[in-house]
Amino acid sequence: MTRAREDTGADLHADDAAALEADLLAGFFDDPPTVPPRWFYDEKGSRLFDRITRLAEYYPTRAEAEILRAHAAAIVGDSTTLVELGAGTSEKTRVLLDVLAGRDGGGVTGNGVAGGGPCTYVPVDISTEMLAESSRALAHDYPGLRIEPVVGDFVALDGPLPGEPGQRLVLFLGGTIGNFTEDQRAEFFAMLRRIASPGDRIAAGFDLVKSPERLVAAYDDAEGVTAEFNLNMLDVIAATVPCSGLHRDNFRHEAVWNEQCSRIEMWLRAVRDVRIDFPSLDLARTLAAGDGIRTEIARKFRIDDLVDEVSGHGFAGPGVWTDPAGDFGMVVAVVE
Ligand SMILES: C[S@@+](CC[C@H](N)C(=O)[O-])C[C@H]1O[C@@H](n2cnc3c(N)ncnc32)[C@H](O)[C@@H]1O
Repeated sequence: MTRAREDTGADLHADDAAALEADLLAGFFDDPPTVPPRWFYDEKGSRLFDRITRLAEYYPTRAEAEILRAHAAAIVGDSTTLVELGAGTSEKTRVLLDVLAGRDGGGVTGNGVAGGGPCTYVPVDISTEMLAESSRALAHDYPGLRIEPVVGDFVALDGPLPGEPGQRLVLFLGGTIGNFTEDQRAEFFAMLRRIASPGDRIAAGFDLVKSPERLVAAYDDAEGVTAEFNLNMLDVIAATVPCSGLHRDNFRHEAVWNEQCSRIEMWLRAVRDVRIDFPSLDLARTLAAGDGIRTEIARKFRIDDLVDEVSGHGFAGPGVWTDPAGDFGMVVAVVE
């Protein structure tokens, strides 16, 4: 796995430009055009997402935090390393780090035998500034834990998982698993099995099907923070690769419930005819007024669907907790 980098800003920008060009070639010229959600997250996008998590309409963060609080010890289990994919601010994770830190250096292993060694937290994220900031705060607040941030794309990890000898727990919180299509989830689970060892565990938060009104409101809040988050992707693209036409004045935010695919979709809908040019790709396309760019899918699951899927991908004994209101779930399973 790639370690946190000390690269110059120029190197990071070149890496980002190449990665974005590859993503544009893979999806922007399809029908409909798509851009993967990782391009929401420059520094501003990360801060906007953090604001979203505190909105009245955005229940997932509160529901998942309830599950983590109620089951922290069981989720951490005997792990000595927590690897969190798409960690963001790591705010919710602190309740798990409390458990890990309580054990760290205390000479007690998970099975109660004296002599346990140090414990490590590995937050992985593509948002460099957010990762650096949250890692500094965690290092301060958890002096006994090793904090080893990794700047990386969580769909392209090349293992093996870092950390201490002993069991590792891979955390994937925030319902981010719902941002993948079924094929992408299959690739993601296959990647996890490649980079993890038998006995390591995964814990993934997932959002549950509920009324379309509540779902849409969670992605289209009254204050317009999610709209700003979606439109910010246009600024991120324009700052990363040369292009024309992707101005926020040309688009509006839209969140819709797709019943057939059981998912919320976020779109940037053209408000007039727009020609978009990418000179470095030597490609252009025109969107007519009303055409959209799909920027996110957020699949909403039924518990059994996800449990069957996790078992089918080589993980043993998937168990699920939900919050008391039944809004959100957490699946925990063991790598076979
Ligand atoms: C929906 S937020 C969830 C943040 C946090 N885990 C939570 O539950 O609140 C997704 C996080 O994943 C990061 N992210 C998105 N795509 C990524 C990718 N392809 N590789 C690594 N991190 C990614 C974003 O920067 C952001 O911090």
